[in-house]
Amino acid sequence: MIRRKGIILAGGSGTRLYPITIGLSKQLLPIYNKPMIYYPLSVLMLAGIREIAIITTPADQEQFRRTLGDGAQWGLHLTYIVQASPDGLAQAYVLSEVFLSGASSAMVLGDNLFFGHGLPELMADADDQDGGGTVFGYHVADPQRYGVVAFGPEGKVSAILEKPAVPPSSYAVTGLYFLDGTAPERAKAVAPSERGEFEITDLLESYLAEDLLRVKIMGRGYAWLDTGTHASLLDAGNFVRTLEDRQGLQTGSPDEVAWRQGWITGDQLIERARLFGKNAYGSYLTSLVSEVPYSVMKSES
Ligand code: G1P
Repeated sequence: MIRRKGIILAGGSGTRLYPITIGLSKQLLPIYNKPMIYYPLSVLMLAGIREIAIITTPADQEQFRRTLGDGAQWGLHLTYIVQASPDGLAQAYVLSEVFLSGASSAMVLGDNLFFGHGLPELMADADDQDGGGTVFGYHVADPQRYGVVAFGPEGKVSAILEKPAVPPSSYAVTGLYFLDGTAPERAKAVAPSERGEFEITDLLESYLAEDLLRVKIMGRGYAWLDTGTHASLLDAGNFVRTLEDRQGLQTGSPDEVAWRQGWITGDQLIERARLFGKNAYGSYLTSLVSEVPYSVMKSES
C-alpha cells in the first residue's frame, strides 16, 4: 500500500481577520514565534507523513514557497497546489487527486492548532485503519460554528452537520481528517451547499452512509485552538507563549519534529538554527542536539 500523504489547506480569503489579512495570508500570520502553518505542518509530521501538498490561493502561493521551500530542510517533500477560489474543504480532495494518486491522506486545516500528550498515538491509530476515514470530535463551548457530530442510540454517530443552528451535541469535528484513497472520487460527487460550498461534512456523510467513518473523541486533555477572530488569534499566541515559557520546550516546530523523527541529523538542525541567528528559536534548536536522547525521555514520561 502507498504511504499516507498529507494535505494542508491554507486557502481562503480570511475576511474575518480583515484588515490584517487584506495583504497577507491568514495561515502565515504569527502565532507567537512561528508562522501559523508551522503548527498544522508539525502535526502531519508527528503522524510520520513526509509527502505533503500545500493548497493556497493563487496570489499567496509565492509567500508560502518562500516560507516553507521544498521541505528538504525538514526531510519532507512539499508540493504546492492552487485553489482558484475558496469553494469549500471537500474541493481540496479534488484538487489533490493527481498528487494523491490513489493514496490515503491526512488533511489538516492550515489554521488549526492542536496540542496534547498522546497526539502521535491518536494519529497512529487513525493511520493504521485500512479503509474508510477517521475524524476527531472535540467538546467546545460554541458547536454551532463548526461541523457537529450527532450521536444516535448507544453513542453511535448518526450524522455530521455543518454549522447547525441547533447543535445536536457539543462535539465539533476538528480540522484533521484521515481519509482513504476514495476521497477524491467521493468529493467529486458532493453538490454545493446552500452557502455555495463543497462541504467537508457532506464528504464525511458519504463515508458515514456506508458505515466507513470513525469519530474518535479528542479528549479534554487536548487543546484544539481556533484562530478565526482577532481575539482567538491573540489567545492562541498567548497559549503557545505560556506553554513554551513554562516548559522550555517549543510546540509547532517542524525543525524539532524533523530531528526527533530522525529525518534530519543534528548537524543539519544546527545548520538550520544558524538561520535564526541568536534569537530564542535558534538557540532552542541548537540546545536540542546536546540534550538527553528522546528515547530515554520517552521511557520516563
Ligand atoms: C470548517 C469545516 C467544519 C469544521 C471546521 C474546523 O469550518 O467546514 O466542519 O468543524 O472547519 O475548523 P470553517 O473553518 O470553514 O468555518
